[in-house]
Amino acid sequence: MSSQSSVIKRLDGKVALITGGASGLGECTAKLFVKHGAKVLIADIQDELGDSVRQELGTENISYVHCDITCESDVENAVNLAVSKYGKLDIMFNNAGTLGDNEARVTHVSTEDFKRVFDINVLGGFLGAKYAARVMVPAKKGCILFTSSLASKISFGSPHAYKASKHAVAGLTKSLAVELGEYGIRVNCISPYAISTPMFQKSMGITDKKKGEDMIAASSVLKGTVLEPEDFAHAALYLASDEAKFISGVNLPLDGGYSLSNQSWKVGFAALFE
Ligand SMILES: NC(=O)c1ccc[n+]([C@@H]2O[C@H](COP(=O)([O-])OP(=O)(O)OC[C@H]3O[C@@H](n4cnc5c(N)ncnc54)[C@H](O)[C@@H]3O)[C@@H](O)[C@H]2O)c1
Repeated sequence: MSSQSSVIKRLDGKVALITGGASGLGECTAKLFVKHGAKVLIADIQDELGDSVRQELGTENISYVHCDITCESDVENAVNLAVSKYGKLDIMFNNAGTLGDNEARVTHVSTEDFKRVFDINVLGGFLGAKYAARVMVPAKKGCILFTSSLASKISFGSPHAYKASKHAVAGLTKSLAVELGEYGIRVNCISPYAISTPMFQKSMGITDKKKGEDMIAASSVLKGTVLEPEDFAHAALYLASDEAKFISGVNLPLDGGYSLSNQSWKVGFAALFE
């Protein structure tokens, strides 16, 4: 038996819609979901990249749709397309997001940027949940996932709009989990520490994936390994699968213990003795 055919397909027969699936964490998750037997529709605004992911996998079990998640009709259209193409919607993964401008000072943040970050990270995810729920509520089952961030748990340098929006995503997760539990729909979010994707590299002003990984590894609490897109995809796979059938309302940290550690006293003492 080949290694490919011996893979246990943990999403066999399920249909998933993944926003932000053209790049980074969404792309990696889409590939893993297909490997595990799901039919996946990726929704993004980067059409060439999205289409290249589809072509790379070369199977009818993945397709791409242009969808700006801040546009309600685009999101409604993407959900309808998943249902018309694959017959149903089991997993809605609201993963697309933006860091916004890399301006840390509240006195200098542009109001436009603050609103744009909330439009993408919060409104976009809300719209995904809204239209997915319209399909899942009558079906009395389903799984809604969001990508939040460790910025929803601790403050570690990202801009205010990003942090506040990711807190909102975690709050929306809890709120939806309570309402939609009545219909057998589970709602969870994942909060990763830094991962060397295009978004991370851009925010650090680098283009090299390995350099990003080295930076992340150097500041991690858990040593001897580095957090990669595949680790994120596996967390999503678990939460989307029936193995997590009683897990709902959770904000899962994917951080190797980083959020448990407060390094500021160390930095403070080091500064005193410089
Ligand atoms: N990489 C990290 O370090 C990290 C850490 C914590 C959380 N996250 C979150 O992970 C998610 C994925 O980010 P990534 O690191 O893979 O970055 P990425 O830039 O590689 O991917 C993000 C994708 O979202 C898409 N997108 C952005 N705005 C959109 C819109 N309006 N409509 C549709 N698609 C849109 C982009 O085109 C892109 O393909 C984001 O929500 C991000 O906030 C990332």
